[in-house]
Amino acid sequence: MSNIEVISTSFEPGAAAKEGTIPLCVPQMSGNEWLYVKECIDTNWVSSAGPFVSRFEQSLASYVGADHAIATVNGTAALHIALIVAGVQPDEEVLLPALTFIAPANAVRYAGAWPVFIDVEPNYWQLDPEKVFDFLTEQCQYSNGKLINKITGRTVRAILPVHILGHPCDIDALYEIARKFDLVVVEDATESLGAKYKDRRVGSGGDIACFSFNGNKIITTGGGGMIVTNRDDWAERARYLTTQAKDDYIEYVHNEVGYNYRLTNIQAALGCAQMEQLDDFVSAKRRIAAQYTDALRNVAGISCPQEAPWASSSSWLYTVLVDAQVYGIDSRRLLKHLAHENIQARPLWQPMHRSKAHAGSHSYRIEVADTIHGKALSLPSSVGLKARDQLHVIEAISGLTS
Ligand SMILES: Cc1ncc(COP(=O)(O)O)c(C=O)c1O
Repeated sequence: MSNIEVISTSFEPGAAAKEGTIPLCVPQMSGNEWLYVKECIDTNWVSSAGPFVSRFEQSLASYVGADHAIATVNGTAALHIALIVAGVQPDEEVLLPALTFIAPANAVRYAGAWPVFIDVEPNYWQLDPEKVFDFLTEQCQYSNGKLINKITGRTVRAILPVHILGHPCDIDALYEIARKFDLVVVEDATESLGAKYKDRRVGSGGDIACFSFNGNKIITTGGGGMIVTNRDDWAERARYLTTQAKDDYIEYVHNEVGYNYRLTNIQAALGCAQMEQLDDFVSAKRRIAAQYTDALRNVAGISCPQEAPWASSSSWLYTVLVDAQVYGIDSRRLLKHLAHENIQARPLWQPMHRSKAHAGSHSYRIEVADTIHGKALSLPSSVGLKARDQLHVIEAISGLTS
């Protein structure tokens, strides 16, 4: 196996990095994790009921600043249920960015609806509100009170912004458009727990938002997710649907098809311990990002990620753009070079309008996502990244041009 193959086997969320490699993004378990998990085992509360589940929900709701939080088995399940409770119906359409991990697009399909892929903006690589607006005004029209995509004939129901890489979308602009066109907003905040938009935590104050706690996220429960909302009725419905839609707890009567999506107490125990450290994790990520930017901003051909004036990024995954003409090699050759230096790096996801999995979906004026995808490389960003390891990454990148 080549070095790059060895390294790429460790890209799965939470996979332990091969001895001697600098991992891309691995968990930090340095608090009360053992203590709380032991409590679950000692008390026999190991499954999807137990005190840690509600404690984790309350802790996340109060951190984000939302009225309700509902824990789920993973972030994809959270998105699936959030779409349903937000009223997205089969054969309707949901607008989402072309540049994202595939999970939100899949969740739209699980709900029987269809994604429409819209471009990202070039500065922060998030869903572009201007193009969302242009799509809605140029390619949609009202018919019988419904907003119809003129190309597909389907009803447009929702916008699903994905706050990628720890940086928020321009959420006020997107909500303004959503309100104008009477669309609901389902936020995918899975990569941005701890980020702020203006003075608000990402995921607060909107219609409904989802988080993920898989192994590479800023806090982890091994696998897990959360739905947050301020709407009492949506919260109640989400709780009902994620717990098999049980209408009678004694007689086991179910009036709807529900889902077995509830997080377990053991996972929630990890979540509680991780929440206690979240502020420190965000500070560590932001410090790591600032150090990369200090060291790499003058390397010709490398562009560092920017932070919007209205944003405080959680700097979840530090990602640079490589201009091959100036730097000398492209992002994929730099990836190989870093692999030979035992450094895990990773390109961003194949843009969704190119995904065979979503070949049947409509897309609109995608000009930026492909360019970013071609140039982007994410660098080691674990909370526990050691200073000497970060220096090694920096030298491996800057050394190629010196
Ligand atoms: C943008 C985005 N959405 C959704 C998910 C899905 O989360 P999970 O892996 O917990 O299902 C992830 C991460 O995995 C993600 O990065």
